[in-house]
Amino acid sequence: METKKTVIVTGASQGIGHAIAARFMREGWRVITCSRQDVPEHCRMDPNWAHHIVTDLVKDEDVTRFIGEANAILNGGPLHALINNAGVSPKTSFKERLGVLNGPIQGWREVFDLNFFAPLKLARGFASALNRGKGAIVNITSIAGHYVHPFAGSAYSTSKAALSGLTREMAVEFAQLGVRVNALAPGEIKTGMISPDYEAFIPRIPLERMGSTDDVAGVAFRLCSDDFAYVTGTEVFVTGGQHLL
Ligand SMILES: NC(=O)c1ccc[n+]([C@@H]2O[C@H](COP(=O)([O-])OP(=O)(O)OC[C@H]3O[C@@H](n4cnc5c(N)ncnc54)[C@H](OP(=O)(O)O)[C@@H]3O)[C@@H](O)[C@H]2O)c1
Repeated sequence: METKKTVIVTGASQGIGHAIAARFMREGWRVITCSRQDVPEHCRMDPNWAHHIVTDLVKDEDVTRFIGEANAILNGGPLHALINNAGVSPKTSFKERLGVLNGPIQGWREVFDLNFFAPLKLARGFASALNRGKGAIVNITSIAGHYVHPFAGSAYSTSKAALSGLTREMAVEFAQLGVRVNALAPGEIKTGMISPDYEAFIPRIPLERMGSTDDVAGVAFRLCSDDFAYVTGTEVFVTGGQHLL
């Protein structure tokens, strides 16, 4: 019988999700992850990173398969945390963001499939296991879900705003299962998702630096700890204060 706590992290092949998976492993948790690519070979050396399931969360059949395979790994045991991290901010080769006046509507659907519907489907698919673990869900939202952002298109921003709203609704529904649900809204974090143009934001960030993936991972981990046992339905801004200006 597995004695370690278990977390599922989506989008763990790079960026924020990779740092979140690494933080949970450092804390001795067993980690189950997914993304479209495999995880780097050296990560596989960690015995806590027991399972990475190659999955495209935009595809319904992949989501269903991932839920089935991960629940089979849990084998009727508890799940203590689900981190809905995988997300996309689509852009064309000439940096155009998906907006109301441009881009295909199908593109909007794909953004919402990954950024909004995947967290909903996974929360539903792992509800029983989370109930057994009296676990916590963390939805990775964005500062762009709250304020018009010059580089984030409206498809991305509204999908994140919807995920913030879903977090509130989920918190109440999942409270009946003993499961807490919170959101974590990063600001400008150095990852593959952002371009060097983002350095221009630094004068608008009270802490005068961009965030690191470890800044986000630490908060995600703490939100799943007992220190936050009485916190649900809230959204933590990991922005260096950028959301205040
Ligand atoms: N970086 C920032 O400044 C920032 C700010 C605000 C919010 N966020 C949010 O933070 C989260 C992580 O962002 P990041 O900056 O770390 O992004 P990233 O570096 O682009 O990483 C995204 C992760 O999601 C996975 N992914 C993408 N599409 C997927 C799909 N269809 N199915 C499964 N996995 C998929 C990617 O792996 P594969 O390519 O292998 O699938 C990758 O592991 C996102 O939700 C993002 O919206 C980031």
